[in-house]
Amino acid sequence: MELFRPINSYYDFENIKMVPEGDLITRNLSDMDWMYQDQEAVQELLKEDPQIYRYYNVDIPEEEGHLQHCISIINPGKVGNEYNMTKGHFHEIKGTAEIYYTIQGEGMLFMQSVTDGEPEFEALEMKKGTLSYVPPYWAHRTINTGEEPLAFIGIYPGEAGHVYGEIEAKGFMKLLIEKDGEPTIIDNPNYK
Ligand code: F6R
Ligand code: ZN
Repeated sequence: MELFRPINSYYDFENIKMVPEGDLITRNLSDMDWMYQDQEAVQELLKEDPQIYRYYNVDIPEEEGHLQHCISIINPGKVGNEYNMTKGHFHEIKGTAEIYYTIQGEGMLFMQSVTDGEPEFEALEMKKGTLSYVPPYWAHRTINTGEEPLAFIGIYPGEAGHVYGEIEAKGFMKLLIEKDGEPTIIDNPNYK
């Protein structure tokens, strides 16, 4: 059998990136413009098309036994009154969990169950040092509520896979907006 060799990756706190970069995926507003509520704000911001987030995937075989891991960085900012966020997904193998470890910044982790029953919702705070557990059967999205980048490590089973289409089409049942200067969870009026 061919042995996979041990490897290190580093988080460069000064330059806010992973070294080596691995497989870097960037998401600009135009990659997810329909996911935000305030379409007037979207149109205005699209003139510059800011980067919302990026994530650095360590190159690991997508196979059982391995642990995929990556570092995600969500830039601070809002689209209208909605904070910058990831697209969100659930795992193709729904029964696979994930650990998030926050290394910088502050934000929220939104989760929505993906069983056959009615979807349920949970939210957890994220701040430097938070170790969050995303159990099996929960879609997950992260949101930056702070003034600096929100950076976290994600670790999940090699075979998990990702499904985006459903959340791209339906959204999450809740939104996180700034209200009276505070992050506030509200019902998503457009949730289908
Ligand atoms: C992997 C995982 C994270 C996200 C990353 C970007 O299973 O949960 O590494 O992939 O934070 O978010 P999405 O994938 O929703 O664009
Ligand atoms: Zn995940």
